Amino acid sequence: MGRSKESDCPAGEYSMADRLEMMLSMLSHIKREQNDLNPAVNPRRTQALPERLRWRALLGFAASLVVIAGQVHTAFGNPAQVTNLLQPLSQPAQEIKDLSLLVLAICAAIFLIVVGLLVYAIVRFRHRPGDEASEPPQIYGSNQIETAWTVLPILIVFVLILVTSRTIADIQNRKAAPGAVHATVVGHQWWWEIRYPELGIVTANELHVPASDNSRGQPTFLKLQSADVAHSFWIPQLAGKTDVIPGRENSMWFEPTQPGTYLGNCAEYCGMQHARMLIRVIVHPPGEFERWVAEQKGAAAEEPSAQDGRRVFFANSCVNCHTIRGTSAQGAFGPDLTHLMSRETLASGTTPNTLETLRAWVRDPQKLKVGCLMPNMQMTDTEVDQIVSYLQTLK
Ligand code: CUA
Repeated sequence: MGRSKESDCPAGEYSMADRLEMMLSMLSHIKREQNDLNPAVNPRRTQALPERLRWRALLGFAASLVVIAGQVHTAFGNPAQVTNLLQPLSQPAQEIKDLSLLVLAICAAIFLIVVGLLVYAIVRFRHRPGDEASEPPQIYGSNQIETAWTVLPILIVFVLILVTSRTIADIQNRKAAPGAVHATVVGHQWWWEIRYPELGIVTANELHVPASDNSRGQPTFLKLQSADVAHSFWIPQLAGKTDVIPGRENSMWFEPTQPGTYLGNCAEYCGMQHARMLIRVIVHPPGEFERWVAEQKGAAAEEPSAQDGRRVFFANSCVNCHTIRGTSAQGAFGPDLTHLMSRETLASGTTPNTLETLRAWVRDPQKLKVGCLMPNMQMTDTEVDQIVSYLQTLK
């Protein structure tokens, strides 16, 4: 609170608005005097340096704009692949967006008031010729103004705390009702393992869930674990980010109502291929999720035409890292391949799952995804073809 020296300053003469204006005037006056009177500053440098720095800053700013524009273009070049944070299609993403807009509106109002007063003070009390002789009116604070700018922010912060805690509690206290889908997502460098313990299904990178409709709520509850380093699971249109931490199990849920494919990405830097650790959530219309589950529960295909490839696959070290259910391949380091061809993409969304990309992947995974943990197995062209023709039968 400011000191109110009523003897020096006849309080009755000024209204509250006058006082606010005078305080702003004094502030700009003080700043100007500090600059004018600072003896430590070399007058020649103060003229030369800011000019040079100003140009450098301008150039730097322009360069960063160009770089950012390039990134934005890359990111938004394919609109179908970009997920819109501001178009949530599920709880809790909707609730989070509503809260963010409220917080943004309050902060924007504060910003506009502060910047408005600042601009007003800069323009109204700018330096004019002949100002040196005159002193601005001397005032010593105002209890009303100071009370207002202390109490108002406290009230605003209090409102923000209340609405934020209500939203957090809403999201965290949601309990899984019967009928909810449960899955465990394990973050690996650099792919997602997805297990449905109750359904006996294991897949990778593509999380299949049912859509909820008015008659039937079918939320999905996830347990999040990490096999190595910290990752973060984020599907912007479905729910907020949740970190995936080694040695700890986090949880989250979402309840999409619109069928479709939702994209997400690992949201915590986790090493070289962090950017290629995409997540797809495929939301099935009511009834279709059950069909997908039935297909995934089926045993791995054993087509006689792919016997050669099968033999090469099992003779190589593929089996040490990959599982094909019902066979001796029981490795757990890499993705489960039992129904590999039911997946849309390879290498965690790096590339579409086609014959050509699958062959390129088996030939040398390091070309598609540098640093990934699957090495180049140095196989001959024939072996690659045979393995790929076997993998292609794993529908
Ligand atoms: Cu996983 Cu970033």
